[in-house]
Amino acid sequence: IPTKEFIEKLPKVELHLHLEGSLEPELMFALAKRNGVEIPFSSPDEVRAAYDFHNLQSFLDIYYQGANVLIQEQDFYDLTWAYLLRCQADNVLHVEVFFDPQTHTDRGIAFDTVIGGIHRALEQGRAELGITSQLILCFLRHLDEAAALETLEQALPHRDKIIGVGLDSSEVGHPPEKFQRVFARALELGFLTVAHAGEEGPASNIHGALELLGVTRIDHGVRCVDDADLVQKLIADRTPLTVCPLSNTRLKVFARMEDHNIVELLRQGLCVTINSDDPAYFGGYMNANFLAVAKAHPMSHVEIAQFTLNAVEASFISPAEKTRLV
Ligand code: ADE
Ligand code: ZN
Repeated sequence: IPTKEFIEKLPKVELHLHLEGSLEPELMFALAKRNGVEIPFSSPDEVRAAYDFHNLQSFLDIYYQGANVLIQEQDFYDLTWAYLLRCQADNVLHVEVFFDPQTHTDRGIAFDTVIGGIHRALEQGRAELGITSQLILCFLRHLDEAAALETLEQALPHRDKIIGVGLDSSEVGHPPEKFQRVFARALELGFLTVAHAGEEGPASNIHGALELLGVTRIDHGVRCVDDADLVQKLIADRTPLTVCPLSNTRLKVFARMEDHNIVELLRQGLCVTINSDDPAYFGGYMNANFLAVAKAHPMSHVEIAQFTLNAVEASFISPAEKTRLV
């Protein structure tokens, strides 16, 4: 049985991480103070105590509230840099990270301020930590498609910094078809596309994301098991699923890690990967997610390593660069 040391030393690639979800309570407090923003907590521990979620929406409400402390370019830099240092600690060599511009532009923060700070930290991560990265812009699906189209326009001056677009926030009631036009436009502009689907929502959203949004990976996707034909198609096409084990148990997608289907999906031949989603809110970065899965589901060394091989396969890095990682 693989040891903690094996998991810690295993090289890793993270493909499902919301930068706003890496905002640790300590940094939230520091930024609130620096920016004079009121937060309804008196200590970082009190913040942590409030992180008791019963579904996706109960988390999202607190996650959007936490993001209110991010105001200046330096704040977005500090957020991203802190995440990259955690990557270094967990032996994460490459990351493809999400950011939610609408969470900030809707509060009057300029798109350029958000991406400026994030990009500066990612460049420093490449130069000083040797961590390569890509940036994915996510549209908030609880907002309308016109707002997503406007956000895509704001991104165009930064086309060179963004590899793709994604879709996140409240899945139930906001299916992929709502965003068909903005994804078609993004594809025309040469962006890759991904989408959260089959996290809390039905397997039909996975189908919709593939057929209507042209996605090359599915974020979460664990509810694919409700549709046997879809599972066979995902296996045949090697469609990657960016699964987030601690997120899924914290948001009650699965009651216990022992009930999680990720290892079963791996053994069926799906291209499943392990990711941390919103580590500051769900209690763990990459190593913690690997360890939690391995503890609940005894696996061989080869099976654990397969999660990294899958992530390299699923990543948006060039074939030449992939050889650097494997
Ligand atoms: N935004 C941040 N984390 C998310 C998740 N797990 N699902 C949907 N939207 C999100
Ligand atoms: Zn997510």
